[in-house]
Amino acid sequence: MGTKIHPYFSFFLLLFLSPHLSLQSFAQNEDEAEEIKRSDFPDHFFFGTATSSYQIEGGYVEDGRGMSNWDVFSHIPGKIKNDDTGDVADDHYHRFLEDIELMHSMGMNAYRFSISWSRILPKGRFGKVNRRGVTFYNNIIDGLLLKGIEPFVTIHHHDFPIELDQRYGSWMSSQMQEDFVFFAKICFEEFGDRVKYWITINEINLVAIKAYLEGVYPPAHCSPPFGKCSTGNSDIEPLIVVHNMLLAHAKAVRLYRIHFHEKQGGSIGIAACGHMYEPLTDHEFDKKAADRALIFNIAWVYDPIIYGDYPKEMRELLGNQLPSFSNIEKNIIRGSLDYIGINHYTTFYTKDCLHSTCSQGSYRPIKGFFETTAYRDGVSIGDPTGEARFFVVPRGLEEIINYIKERYPNKSIFITENGYSPPQGDGNKVEDILNDTKRVNYHKNYLTSLAKAMRNGGDVRGYFVWSLMDNFEWIDGYTTRFGLLYVDLHTLERRPKLSAQWFRSFLGGNPQRLVKSSSLITNASHSLMDA
Ligand code: BGC
Repeated sequence: MGTKIHPYFSFFLLLFLSPHLSLQSFAQNEDEAEEIKRSDFPDHFFFGTATSSYQIEGGYVEDGRGMSNWDVFSHIPGKIKNDDTGDVADDHYHRFLEDIELMHSMGMNAYRFSISWSRILPKGRFGKVNRRGVTFYNNIIDGLLLKGIEPFVTIHHHDFPIELDQRYGSWMSSQMQEDFVFFAKICFEEFGDRVKYWITINEINLVAIKAYLEGVYPPAHCSPPFGKCSTGNSDIEPLIVVHNMLLAHAKAVRLYRIHFHEKQGGSIGIAACGHMYEPLTDHEFDKKAADRALIFNIAWVYDPIIYGDYPKEMRELLGNQLPSFSNIEKNIIRGSLDYIGINHYTTFYTKDCLHSTCSQGSYRPIKGFFETTAYRDGVSIGDPTGEARFFVVPRGLEEIINYIKERYPNKSIFITENGYSPPQGDGNKVEDILNDTKRVNYHKNYLTSLAKAMRNGGDVRGYFVWSLMDNFEWIDGYTTRFGLLYVDLHTLERRPKLSAQWFRSFLGGNPQRLVKSSSLITNASHSLMDA
């Protein structure tokens, strides 16, 4: 663990007088920037990197932070590859200044990060606010603004105080809605004078499946044929969890709009896991299966938030297993969003299971009677990556944006995550990891696809690379590296990969919004003085 650097003076010095932290060694690679150019995107477009608290912070017992669900889970032997934990992670808790400097040097003008719920509220609403946790995020926000980097804050990205699981079963209970709104309110109060872009919850659709259908994320609930867990019901629980998360989101948005928006002037959305689904064959059944897959993944989240109820196709297949919104709830949830957030990594082929033979689980309504594969006639949909399910399919980004544009007209979109991890077979030598030409190509090609979608009318406002740096990749521990920056697992030293250099060259190493208003800077300085 490193030493703490909180005082104002060292903060100021580090931000402005530390050329050794910037990426001066970056070579400008003219050739590579030619295909897709910064000028293919509007001037005010946001380019950023994304991270989440548990994946990078470490400092897990420091300065009053409480235990989270992921702290407890990662300490259970066998749950995470190599029994890795986020105890230290990237030690961002102590190195955030360096990390801000590195994003600045790449020319990024935005940064999406999440707040560790148990650092702010170690026991949820059943305990006190941890002021030292608040100070930590104040310092990050102020540091970003001083560097002209717009903070995009995810209020909840997978980790919450374990207390809430122990008391009432967290997201399986409607009480969690209250806890989330309580937490969100504190975030708006403490950070909303400077944070103008909020994302309530990350990937409610993915969490529900991983934690309550497959049982591989905490609290590890599942039932056969999906998995063997000590408790759970894979057919029902994911639906209840998403229902509670949707209402928690909607209530937090309502609170923001009523009590904070006028004074703070920010906007608020949510980020869903948004992969693309193409039919496996030209057969009508597979085409319908691909539509169903999009409905069971994307519309499951965005139909209620935008139109006030679940898609009718889900209701038809799931019947009463799918929870219902009361009329009051429908009014709260309908329209509870300013922009759509999409985390997009890959595209799947989709096969119909209503009329043909599939694996056992695909016949359950919760799975929408479709099955996905990456192979058609033995040929993969794209090049493999380090995440077994993900393949490189750049056209998928354009396709998913087109789908969203048609289903939800007039809604602006942020690509809140898009990123690449190399297949394990690509080697562990540091030189190989640093020379990440495949990641460079991934981003070039996905950005080309994004630009095309925007030329065709997709209202996309920003693009966030997952991730700023290699980090704790959930159940894969540190074996999968998504970062633009290489992190040495022992020394925690950060080193820019070729992809970081490519971004610097692409972005001109020159942030669009160098400094915000002087009042924000003044606020920033005050809060740093107070720290
Ligand atoms: C999550 C990240 C994760 C990334 C890569 C997204 O589903 O939001 O936390 O690290 O995918 O797997």
